[in-house]
Amino acid sequence: MRWTVFNQKGGVGKSTIVCNLAAVSARKGRRTLVVDLDPQANATRYLLGGGADGVEPNLAGLFEQTLGFGLFRKGAQGFLHRTPFDRLELLPSSAELLDLQPKLEAKYKIYKLREALDELDGFDAVYLDTPPALGFYTLSALIAADRCLIPFDCDDFSRRALYGLLDSVREVREDHNGDLKVGGIVVNQFQGRARLPRQLVEELKREGLPVLEPYLSSSVKVRESHQAAKPLPYLAASHKLTGELEALFDTIDRHNGG
Ligand SMILES: Nc1ncnc2c1ncn2[C@@H]1O[C@H](COP(=O)(O)OP(=O)(O)OP(=O)(O)O)[C@@H](O)[C@H]1O
Ligand SMILES: [Mg+2]
Repeated sequence: MRWTVFNQKGGVGKSTIVCNLAAVSARKGRRTLVVDLDPQANATRYLLGGGADGVEPNLAGLFEQTLGFGLFRKGAQGFLHRTPFDRLELLPSSAELLDLQPKLEAKYKIYKLREALDELDGFDAVYLDTPPALGFYTLSALIAADRCLIPFDCDDFSRRALYGLLDSVREVREDHNGDLKVGGIVVNQFQGRARLPRQLVEELKREGLPVLEPYLSSSVKVRESHQAAKPLPYLAASHKLTGELEALFDTIDRHNGG
């Protein structure tokens, strides 16, 4: 199953959720791949630490070769990197994706990521991290995915934006990827003691939106985990937020059949 985590809003937890769900998946014994489509390369840094700087080959190289006429094309497998974590591999990002984007758009390369991922076998789960914009890379990810997960940061503007996001998913499904389904809304940075977050999440549920449980708490451990380049299951196996991530993984698994 391929999962795209997306929300046009910046800083809602996309990269954190991608890397931590992937870590839970790998620790459960599944062969897992993270694909980083964000030129900011935060997921790449989270999984590779210092090894992320200038990492080659990367996703920009994979896209770049779709623009050329060269006879030799390296298969997608040749762009994957091992991470320090067992069974967790990475197709890393690079800032070069920024310059490449208009060229890829001009030549309608929107299906190339799906074709590349179709070539890979042996992965039980693939998690795609997207930039905070509904541009070429996010669309490529939605076209390549079976399911999308939408992080929600318990903010009123974000709640209003959710309807637009769900419309975008519907449009991608109609125009490009009939298999794409909404896997659910992931509530992140939830502060259970405050009234507003509870109220906002209740409203979403009343409106029939697929809100997943449990909600992910806000914790300073997340920053520590980024700093240490270790997803929470590896950094703090018994932390409350790690438990929530594991339970969320099981919920997603149950609702979506693995
Ligand atoms: N559950 C959480 N508790 C505390 N801090 C969090 C939590 N989730 C995310 N953060 C913090 O919020 C910030 C944004 O997280 P992250 O980078 O995962 O979001 P993003 O949606 O990928 O951002 P961007 O849109 O820039 O790619 C980070 O500083 C991270 O430490
Ligand atoms: Mg991110």
